[in-house]
Amino acid sequence: MKDLDPTNMSADDWDELHFPRPEENDFDQVVESAISRRGFLAGVVAFGSGAAAIGTGLLSSTSAQAVEASRFAFTPIPAQTDGQVHVPEGYEWKMLMRWGDPLFSEADGYDLTDGGPVERSDKIFGENTDGMETFSYQGHELIAINHEYPNRKINLPASQDGVPAGADDVLKLQNIQGVTVMEITEGPEGWSIVKDSPFNRRIHHNTPMKIAGPAAGHALLRTQADPTGTTSLGTLNNCGAGKTPWGTYLTCEENFNGYFGSSDENASYDQKTTDGFKRYGVKAESWNGYELFDPRFDTSKNPNEPHRAGWIVEIDPTKSDSTPVKHTGLGRFKHENAEVALAADGRVVVYMGDDERGEYLYKFVSNAAYVQGDDTGNLLNDGTLYVAKFNDDMTGEWLPLTPETTGMDAAEILIFTRMAASAVGGTTMDRPEWVASSPVTVEAYCCLTNNKNRGVKPNAGGDDTSANGPNPRDANKYGQIVRWRPADEDHAATDFDWDLYVMAGNPTVHSDNRAGSANVNEGNLFNSPDGMAIDSTGLVWIQTDGKDNNEEDFAGNGNNQMLVGDPVTGEIARFMTGPKGCEVTGLAWSSDLRTMFVGIQHPGSNWPDGGTPRSSVIAIKRTDNGLVG
Ligand code: FEO
Ligand code: CA
Ligand code: CA
Ligand code: CA
Repeated sequence: MKDLDPTNMSADDWDELHFPRPEENDFDQVVESAISRRGFLAGVVAFGSGAAAIGTGLLSSTSAQAVEASRFAFTPIPAQTDGQVHVPEGYEWKMLMRWGDPLFSEADGYDLTDGGPVERSDKIFGENTDGMETFSYQGHELIAINHEYPNRKINLPASQDGVPAGADDVLKLQNIQGVTVMEITEGPEGWSIVKDSPFNRRIHHNTPMKIAGPAAGHALLRTQADPTGTTSLGTLNNCGAGKTPWGTYLTCEENFNGYFGSSDENASYDQKTTDGFKRYGVKAESWNGYELFDPRFDTSKNPNEPHRAGWIVEIDPTKSDSTPVKHTGLGRFKHENAEVALAADGRVVVYMGDDERGEYLYKFVSNAAYVQGDDTGNLLNDGTLYVAKFNDDMTGEWLPLTPETTGMDAAEILIFTRMAASAVGGTTMDRPEWVASSPVTVEAYCCLTNNKNRGVKPNAGGDDTSANGPNPRDANKYGQIVRWRPADEDHAATDFDWDLYVMAGNPTVHSDNRAGSANVNEGNLFNSPDGMAIDSTGLVWIQTDGKDNNEEDFAGNGNNQMLVGDPVTGEIARFMTGPKGCEVTGLAWSSDLRTMFVGIQHPGSNWPDGGTPRSSVIAIKRTDNGLVG
């Protein structure tokens, strides 16, 4: 079992700070082939010559016009290194919900200091808030929120070093992860939960789920407990999220591999399982020790159980007795989020990143169009999965993953999607985190958070990870955001043009490509972009999960933060800073767009109450109650 405390739980390994970096290639050589240098210098990253469609919507403004009239309604704030949340003048934040707060009256007084009773651990708001979405339903304001992973030392304070001492400890950890759905309301004191609302619900590691789509029932998904391969228990490591046009929540299973271990280190598996474990990082040692007390997580006893995680799960937030559905049609990998867009003809497009060094960016396109009121049950399973291929000339294409292109059968393409993507030659990426598509123009963005292995070693499938167009820096420690515009202004198109919206860096420390792009400056330094959402006006909100030591390469970055970018000018401004040690992740707006809900994950300080650090969702408003998105 690995020692994972809140300060090193980020997927960004701390050792990246100490990673020996090779000499950088010359900035111009590496980047100029893929990016318009002129665009960078103007703070704007231009699309390639093939992007004849530029000229619609927001992008019709010239950069000069837009720069003169900044669209930001606030004065950017400086970097911070303290244990508080900061927002700009004219804004305020209030607490919505903290880990351990009761969803139901029966959990009132849940005591965090002793870890709380296991019987009530599924009646409280979960740990490590992450992706979230809001839903307006028959006059009720609902919010669904992921709880990504535990902070064992905090969650099990009575256990030695947070190591589960028995089945109850494991159950407690299982109960505080997954997803919360709850009703919220705004009163004179701000937003709060509607305790005991019939919409309130915890979905955790033992909640019954249905497995749907082309891989459902496949031999690789069958277990002793589920010989049909069509049902499973729980959803694991819920990272980013998504929302469908028909009002359901998508929760994304990311680092599922770490939940499984083996009580028999020498256990043997069939070749496909062995290859899959290797590619997906399933090892004999687990992160949380579940397998010691829950044989479902022991791969020597249940070798197919890991195949039943790594999916995107659909939840109906309006029916607390509904069964969540794992949609195998969306592929199996370390899912970051699920950004849903509609194609010109109404087909459903889902953009998805696989957050691993040197893994891929995907999209799914449904066969049928979404029609309001029609049955949506098959839309996310009946379609084609594609992997992105970026060319250095700023064009790209989506390569279909089919039996013909991959040599794999349809179900195995979905169960071992990484291998399918390798087979067709997708572009290895610098850890794709959230994808966001714009509601005002047909384009999408993906945060590529960082990748210490770029140009250093291949991915787990042996694929080459030399620097390439959208991933131009070896041993990339700062990250970048790639943007693409689909051909014909249609998200279903297989061709696109791309550019880099921003390359994070530190121009106060470096003068080579580690300085970042021209829209990075002393006033907006950040690293490791991760969460992202585009508001109704087209502004791009960027959340970070990076190094917050504020030293050396990261001097001036301060704590993790949320910034906002103008897609036209490239201008980026710091809007919010989180308490030391936290990641800022998860963003959703109230239905009246006057509140922004933001997640503070694993604060390292004793935020918010001066005692036990508690991951929380906060509500940010303008003091004049104006629009915030
Ligand atoms: Fe859970 Fe890739 O972040
Ligand atoms: Ca995280
Ligand atoms: Ca993330
Ligand atoms: Ca991250």
